[in-house]
Amino acid sequence: YSATTPYTTLPSVLLLGPSGAGKTALLTLFERGPFYKPDQPASNSPTDDGKPSVPTPVARTHTSQTPSTVELAVSSDPSAHSYTTDLDAAGATATKFLLVDTPGHPKLRRHALTALSRPNPTIVPSAFSASLSSKNNKNSTSSSSETHKSKLKALVFVVDAAALADSDSGSLASTAEYLYDVLLTLQQRFDRQRRGGARAPASVPVLVAANKLDLFTALPAGLVKSQLEGELGRIRKTRSKGLLDSGEGDALDGPGGDEEEGWLGSYGAEKFSFDEMREFDVEVEVVGGNVFGDGPGAEKWWRWIGDRV
Ligand code: GTP
Ligand code: MG
Repeated sequence: YSATTPYTTLPSVLLLGPSGAGKTALLTLFERGPFYKPDQPASNSPTDDGKPSVPTPVARTHTSQTPSTVELAVSSDPSAHSYTTDLDAAGATATKFLLVDTPGHPKLRRHALTALSRPNPTIVPSAFSASLSSKNNKNSTSSSSETHKSKLKALVFVVDAAALADSDSGSLASTAEYLYDVLLTLQQRFDRQRRGGARAPASVPVLVAANKLDLFTALPAGLVKSQLEGELGRIRKTRSKGLLDSGEGDALDGPGGDEEEGWLGSYGAEKFSFDEMREFDVEVEVVGGNVFGDGPGAEKWWRWIGDRV
């Protein structure tokens, strides 16, 4: 990055998902890149025989209350296509982008969903970030870019694949509720534009990152996908029934009615599948991985992001 480079606003990728899924952990992993020691899980377990825990080089995550943003760079050279590659040392040309963390707590989601509903979603990093840090501080452009709007390129919806496997936790229902709202927001944004005769908005692809696959209890990505699809199908049925029961359905039914408005995916379809979202130009992919421990890691997620910024 040199002073002669003309200023352009960096594109952004938004991290969404329920509380505890691992969004902040993932952001930290990508931010620290080659310097990260992933074999030090930040454990919440109180089983450490009562001893105070030893500080580790890994930042402990805690429930996020404010969104935060980091500036990252992905190499345009596929052989250096890893978040562990030190792009400065490799001298590679890179695409910079902003990765924006959001809080998963239900009362703090409004911010993220509001941004998504706009025809051309933009993120104002300063509105999202308590601290805008940079992988390479010497290259930081934070003070100038903070005030600019950033074009949203993709969403990463992080889910806890181990919690999803525990049917008593209610995790599947609450995770699917949030995902439903995210996908419906993207669908309605597309519909509004189409009905208004406007050009289709730039599509925002969604990666469902099935996290914590280092845990043996975690569901593999294929099951995370089918479980979520099943639950999303149940939710849309329940929501449309709610409208009918309240008497609103009769009057508002039919194309463009309220019931169709709130229906995720192909209207009237029996089972929900993520492929239905293509009708609304929303690509959804489910990919497994982990931030800590042994497993597939985070490289596939990084590559997915790199291909879309
Ligand atoms: P909110 O900020 O509340 O929305 O949650 P979050 O999605 O940011 O979750 P966070 O990154 O704080 O992670 C929650 C817990 O999951 C932490 O204790 C992490 O250490 C743990 N965690 C994150 N990723 C992994 C993983 O890949 N494997 C395991 N075993 N634990 C993980
Ligand atoms: Mg967090």
